[in-house]
Amino acid sequence: MPTDLTDIEAHKRAAAERAVELVASGMLVGLGSGSTARYFVEGVARRVREGLEITALATSEETQRLARTGGINLVDTIDRPLDITVDGADEIDSRRNLIKGRGGALLREKVVAHASRAFLVIADETKAVPKLGQGPVPVEVVPFLWEVTSRNIESLGGQASLRTGARGPFRTDNGNLILDVAFADLTKPDELDRHLHRIPGVVEHGLFIGMAAAVIFGGPQGIRIVGSLPAPAAG
Ligand code: A5P
Repeated sequence: MPTDLTDIEAHKRAAAERAVELVASGMLVGLGSGSTARYFVEGVARRVREGLEITALATSEETQRLARTGGINLVDTIDRPLDITVDGADEIDSRRNLIKGRGGALLREKVVAHASRAFLVIADETKAVPKLGQGPVPVEVVPFLWEVTSRNIESLGGQASLRTGARGPFRTDNGNLILDVAFADLTKPDELDRHLHRIPGVVEHGLFIGMAAAVIFGGPQGIRIVGSLPAPAAG
């Protein structure tokens, strides 16, 4: 039976709440972007109102606004690794490789994930895929000669389309463009990762290979954890 939207929202929230339990006072926390990460930010904000003392770094301007409204203490620079970062994903394979960025925040998300001791993904079960590439891979590119960059990306075997919004091309928080690239064959994501990075004009892409320490899935059967969660928080 198909899972309806209300169930999916409940599953996202359940996954997020499991991650909220891992946050303890004194931590430096990375806050992801998107509708699942939103539940995490709201949960952390609730615990802050109850006395949790943390410092956080947001992966998008939208998350920053949400966190600020929720009373979370934010920084925009760090001098040590983040203790934990919790974010959503668009596709997750059995090895915890991800496609992210369909919300457009992939660059900051990847920088923050990479700067974290533990990068955890929260998702509803519909995000689990047998193989990455069910949908397009978002690629952030600089606006200058983006058509040339697009053709170079397509030479890797993909079909690129410029992401647009109501008012023309979608702009990321960094002022760049997003190409959504459908790859016919994504059996070697780590190879594609390297090839994409060799193309001038490509800033970053939404393949997150070998980065997630664990994925917390929420689904009809409850919570399912793949990988290892950090030790439970005390504070
Ligand atoms: C934002 O750019 C993305 O990477 C999101 O984390 C991803 O698209 C998942 O978003 P949802 O939780 O809204 O599905």
